[in-house]
Amino acid sequence: MKDNVQSMLTQALSEINGAADLAAIEALRVKYLGKKGEVTTLLRSMGAVAPEDRPEMGRIINEAREAIEAALEEAKAVKSASALGDKLIQEQIDVTLPGVAKKRGHLHPLTVVLNEIQDIFIGMGFSVAEGPEVDTVYNNFDALNSPPDHPSRSLSDTFYITEEILLRTQTSPVQVRTMKASSPPIKVISPGRCFRFDELDATHSPMFHQIEGLVVDENITMADLKGTLDVFAKRLFGEHTKTKFRPHYFPFTEPSAEVDVTCFKCGGKGCRVCKGSGWIEILGCGMVHPNVLEECGIDSEKYTGFAFGMGLDRVTMLRLEIDDIRLMFENDMRFIEQF
Ligand code: DAH
Repeated sequence: MKDNVQSMLTQALSEINGAADLAAIEALRVKYLGKKGEVTTLLRSMGAVAPEDRPEMGRIINEAREAIEAALEEAKAVKSASALGDKLIQEQIDVTLPGVAKKRGHLHPLTVVLNEIQDIFIGMGFSVAEGPEVDTVYNNFDALNSPPDHPSRSLSDTFYITEEILLRTQTSPVQVRTMKASSPPIKVISPGRCFRFDELDATHSPMFHQIEGLVVDENITMADLKGTLDVFAKRLFGEHTKTKFRPHYFPFTEPSAEVDVTCFKCGGKGCRVCKGSGWIEILGCGMVHPNVLEECGIDSEKYTGFAFGMGLDRVTMLRLEIDDIRLMFENDMRFIEQF
């Protein structure tokens, strides 16, 4: 029986030594020390041992059990430590890795330039007034002194919704709305979308943007108009920019003018941007026609005013040297992200 105990012990120790993981160690504990384990079985079979040999046998079996217990404990400690090590290695975080950058949103080129223009006028005391894109024929044409047979009213130029309602062809109807809703002094700019029956090509789009300006007060003269637009041009295109006022015709202003600025690219020498002339046309303007003031309830004997309107798309294309208007409305991120 002593030999049996000895060989069981050797067998047990070598199995414990070879145990692959904590589960295998637990299985060996059950196999040797469990209720039906080999050590327990040996202890139960003590009845068959001669009474005088029992103390000796009991001691040997107990020693074997203690050795197995100690071996199991040690194996368990080693395996738990390495299991923890494995887990730590797997879960380790490299704090020196660069973070995942969050992509920031991006302003559209039109918004970039609109913000610049708004800042310039707000700096000169203007406020921003907006009007609807769907407006009345009255606000868009009649109240603006536009003759009944003016070609811009025709079906081939204007999107009509009904006979009285249209998609505004200009931001000028906001002038009418502002003058009817308030009284002088008035000093506003109104940016917004406009619509015309145009074929889409590199320089035309049926949807485009204008920025309107309107100043009405006592003693407003053409000198105020020139001074305001001159400061604006210098702030937008640079200190050396000069302006040139060319006589023109608009139904809602008298006198009317178109304004050119010296080319910001070549300084006036002539280049690709200004098509060799040294000048670039940027807006239309004039002194508000007395008929328009009266139609909007403003006493034209007491008050005068000036107004101007510019194409935001055109100014943006010039400023950012974009040569096709369609690029601005296709929203291809590769294009938009360049600005
Ligand atoms: N509404 C004009 C256009 O679409 C631009 C314009 C010219 C606006 C002169 C004005 C102005 O207020 O005074 O061509």
